[in-house]
Amino acid sequence: MEKLCHGEINQFVDWHDTDGNIINASDGGIIFANGKYHWYGMAFRPLPFLSGPDGGQMTNMGVVMYESSDLLNWKYEGVILEVKNDPESELFAPLRFERPKIIYNDKTKKYVLWCHFVKYPGNHGNNKGECDMGLAVCDTVNGKYTWLGYSKPIDDNGCVRDMTVYKDKDGCAYLIYDRHTNLLREDRCLYVVKLSDDYLSFTSTYKRIESAIWREAPVVVFKEGYYYIITSGLTGWKTNQAKAFRTKHLLEQWEDIGDPCVDDFTHTTFNTQGSNAFLVEGTDTQIIMLERHNTSNFVKSSYVWLPVEFNGDNTISLRYKKEYCFE
Ligand code: GAL
Repeated sequence: MEKLCHGEINQFVDWHDTDGNIINASDGGIIFANGKYHWYGMAFRPLPFLSGPDGGQMTNMGVVMYESSDLLNWKYEGVILEVKNDPESELFAPLRFERPKIIYNDKTKKYVLWCHFVKYPGNHGNNKGECDMGLAVCDTVNGKYTWLGYSKPIDDNGCVRDMTVYKDKDGCAYLIYDRHTNLLREDRCLYVVKLSDDYLSFTSTYKRIESAIWREAPVVVFKEGYYYIITSGLTGWKTNQAKAFRTKHLLEQWEDIGDPCVDDFTHTTFNTQGSNAFLVEGTDTQIIMLERHNTSNFVKSSYVWLPVEFNGDNTISLRYKKEYCFE
């Protein structure tokens, strides 16, 4: 690929790896390590599993990874977190490792993967293992990650839904997640939870983002003293209007700064939902990774990567581009 191709907002565009296969790495992220970008995500199930109400939205592979030097040409590196055939295993498939996020711990020298874990058969529910945070760890960025199990931050009452992980400049890391304890609208809200120094557990330090009621798909970016979270509303796979929040301190009050999308005439975040953000090495450009989920064939969901525009007044904008070249 020479540039990113997104097509029209109602179009699904396939991106291929260097072997010519469709890139199937849902709602993951990019980590830069050993001089290369590594793109990872949950592999949706292929066509033969599409029948039935839940289609191909679970995985029978796990989390996969691709590597690239230019963010355009991606070489498949294989499955980094594998599902298991053993019904006794927590990783018995199909299941979901939704929104996996990997951060590197400079002290322990481990790569730590958190995800929203939904055990076999991968249906979102409220029981143990159906709405939890999953954890895996590895000594190398693209090795086989060791599963360390699942748990809940804050307390055992809060269901874990969409999440992300953010590593701050000082090395502290935070989990941002959509939590609910009941079905009342005001109860369901994004929370920020500080991780332990080794990133392998939660601390008791957290903040409920009061302004972020009924939001999900959080993506964090930082610029000039402000942290921003770009979120979606809650309409399942159906796309909806984005909303951003900002703060100067992750564990303090967050301010609702509205929809960052410019000319998003359908109010659907350009028919996408966010998954992560990354910095283009050697530049100031931060890219938001969005995904256009294809519910009639999840494997053919497509990716939309847009530069986040930071405005002088500490607001952000996203502008749709049918194609994009990195600067
Ligand atoms: C979306 C959410 C996805 C997935 C989906 C399932 O709203 O962002 O991560 O959970 O719902 O319906």
